[in-house]
Amino acid sequence: MRLIVADDYDGMSKLAADIVIAAVQERPASSILVATGNTPMGLYDLLATRQASGECDFSGVRAVQLDEYLGIGPEDPRSLFGWMRRSFVVPLAIPDAQVMRLRSDAADPDAACQEFAEAIRETGGIDIAILGLGPNGHLGFNEPPSAADAHTRVITLTPESAASSASYWGAGEDVPQQAMTVGMDILLEARLTIVVISGEHKRHILQQTLEGPVSSDLPASWLRTAENVVFIADRAAAGELALAEDATTQAG
Ligand code: GLP
Repeated sequence: MRLIVADDYDGMSKLAADIVIAAVQERPASSILVATGNTPMGLYDLLATRQASGECDFSGVRAVQLDEYLGIGPEDPRSLFGWMRRSFVVPLAIPDAQVMRLRSDAADPDAACQEFAEAIRETGGIDIAILGLGPNGHLGFNEPPSAADAHTRVITLTPESAASSASYWGAGEDVPQQAMTVGMDILLEARLTIVVISGEHKRHILQQTLEGPVSSDLPASWLRTAENVVFIADRAAAGELALAEDATTQAG
């Protein structure tokens, strides 16, 4: 596991973009697990800018959805699939045939989860997982407690996660109480995982993720048991972790 500390949000996004671009240059047909949330948006903007300048080409990648609210169709303004399309798929000109959507509006959501997990495995697993860190340590919607072998499944959101979801839409939208998420089992098998973390409000949970007990109570802590994981934090999120070592830090 590596921790890289950037000065600020833009620096974090640039460091993450450098790593993702290098990985896609090496394997143009990479399967990429795509988190939504606020944190990776600067990274996605940079990828699109750098593709436009000819530095990289994402047209061969497969974009795999990480999580979705239950019963929400792709056209719903709250849809995380819609967010992934607007921020990642469309700007990077990834053909629709190379996009894997979590069908949270399926008649049988449990079966849809199983099918999704099988489809990921059949296509060779995840090459690059781009993740954010939930305020309670969740990854995707693997809410605490989530074991390391937790499957792709339907979960009930914690009140904290429902509140953080509501902040994306402003007042007036109902927050779904349930969601689907790619499981910890698939996340922990990714060949490369990049977690972007920004802001002082993430400082405590990042410190616990990196230095607290590895436990289902903090699902992100399982990443410490996985191969090839890079946490990229800005200084505001890294806090004491940033003070302990210098600008570019390797830990663990
Ligand atoms: C959300 C999503 C995650 C996301 C995380 C952090 O609730 N389920 O996929 O990575 O929480 O979000 P943000 O980057 O907005 O802090």
